[in-house]
Amino acid sequence: MMATNVSGIIDSTNDVDLSIDFAGIKAPNPFWLASAPPTDKAYNVERAFAAGWGGVVWKTLGEDPPAVNVSSRYSALYGRNRQVMGLNNIELITDRSLELNLREIERVKRNWPDRALIISLMVPCVEEAWRTILPLIEATGADGIELNLGCPHGMPERGMGAAVGQNPDLVEQVARWCKQYYSKPVIVKLTPNITDIRAPARAALRGGADAVSLINTINSITSLDLDRMVAHPIVGGRSTHGGYCGEAVKPIALNMVAEIGRDPATQGLPISGIGGISSWRDAAEFIALGAGSVQVCTAAMLHGFRIVEEMKDGLARWMGEHGYARIGDFSGRALANTTDWKYLDMNYVSIAHIDQDKCIQCGRCHIACEDTSHQAIAHYRLDDGTRRYEVKAADCVGCNLCQITCPVEGCIDMVAVETGRPYMNWTQDPRNPHREVQEPAAAM
Ligand SMILES: Cc1cc2nc3c(=O)[nH]c(=O)nc-3n(C[C@H](O)[C@H](O)[C@H](O)COP(=O)(O)O)c2cc1C
Repeated sequence: MMATNVSGIIDSTNDVDLSIDFAGIKAPNPFWLASAPPTDKAYNVERAFAAGWGGVVWKTLGEDPPAVNVSSRYSALYGRNRQVMGLNNIELITDRSLELNLREIERVKRNWPDRALIISLMVPCVEEAWRTILPLIEATGADGIELNLGCPHGMPERGMGAAVGQNPDLVEQVARWCKQYYSKPVIVKLTPNITDIRAPARAALRGGADAVSLINTINSITSLDLDRMVAHPIVGGRSTHGGYCGEAVKPIALNMVAEIGRDPATQGLPISGIGGISSWRDAAEFIALGAGSVQVCTAAMLHGFRIVEEMKDGLARWMGEHGYARIGDFSGRALANTTDWKYLDMNYVSIAHIDQDKCIQCGRCHIACEDTSHQAIAHYRLDDGTRRYEVKAADCVGCNLCQITCPVEGCIDMVAVETGRPYMNWTQDPRNPHREVQEPAAAM
């Protein structure tokens, strides 16, 4: 029996059930480790499960002989305090034999029957290769497979990874082979290195895939050694582009998840959200935009397996506070409010408001607005030598730049202005010569 208070809010995190059934794959919570070094062997995966992860996608397996990696392999984009904002890697798929991986997977699944164990796979784009490997995968007892059609370095040169994921016909074909030669759920992992993410998602669905996961890494060069005139990471004296991940890619991943979630052609297709997830809030955002599970790689690589504790606690607490008893209660809830630009209300007006008690008179908002925006923040020097910044309401266009530059959280708010004007989007705007007048309800 769920405890609710008068307003219907669930009182306790005890009443929140984090368990999921993702495309037929069950897990005690939606937090899975993505296919990468944290999931490359039994030693890692068993400690991850002990720490509380709900599932893992085992580091991508391929045909023998195993891949040979280079050193070094990683580079990073740092924030001011050396916080890693983005990680770039040039690793390939597993560098251990297929037989060793399969033996370990079978053992781990037997020891941890309640956790989701998914095997990531990448073999050449020919039917025989899939027909050969899939029975071996099935025999491990793992819960499903994830097709790595997204690795952006090393593997595309061999006709695999992103070379397949960037071609919707091949995506469809490979998904079809997998559904033919494998009986459990098939997840297609998508590459973000493509113009329209909906095309491979639709292709995966046409091929019979049970779900998609995204994103894999984004083509990147993070930085150069300007003395040696070579990019990082440096292998001998040379470098190559790698795959970008970590917090910096979250906005790109969120948008792509939303694109698929909003696409009528892929309605109902389960999505596993990946890309820059490092907190419960990140996870909640992916779920609100339609994800049914989330996968984490960089945050675990930087901070260790125990970050899942905060993720689970934080998500359960937030869900309890908002009256969501299960993940499905809010999965996709934000999609209805995510629309095309042309349906935004052109009559909605908000302007900046500076809380003078919180203002530290640094002047950043003034400089940003004065030099590069709309000259809407007045600057006064008072008799006592202090400064004061005030928004000129008539000139403020509500762009948010001052709020973004302000170093004090909560000092600048965007406040809605009552105009009395009704909702009007661009398709209804009399100034738009191409308008296709629609009722607001239909337009949304
Ligand atoms: C070192 C490294 C190795 C990776 N190896 C694989 C891999 O073998 N297969 C795969 O599908 N994705 C691989 N990825 C991509 C991750 O699974 C994930 O899609 C990506 O890192 C985005 O998530 P994140 O921002 O949480 O790291 C790798 C990522 C990193 C950093």
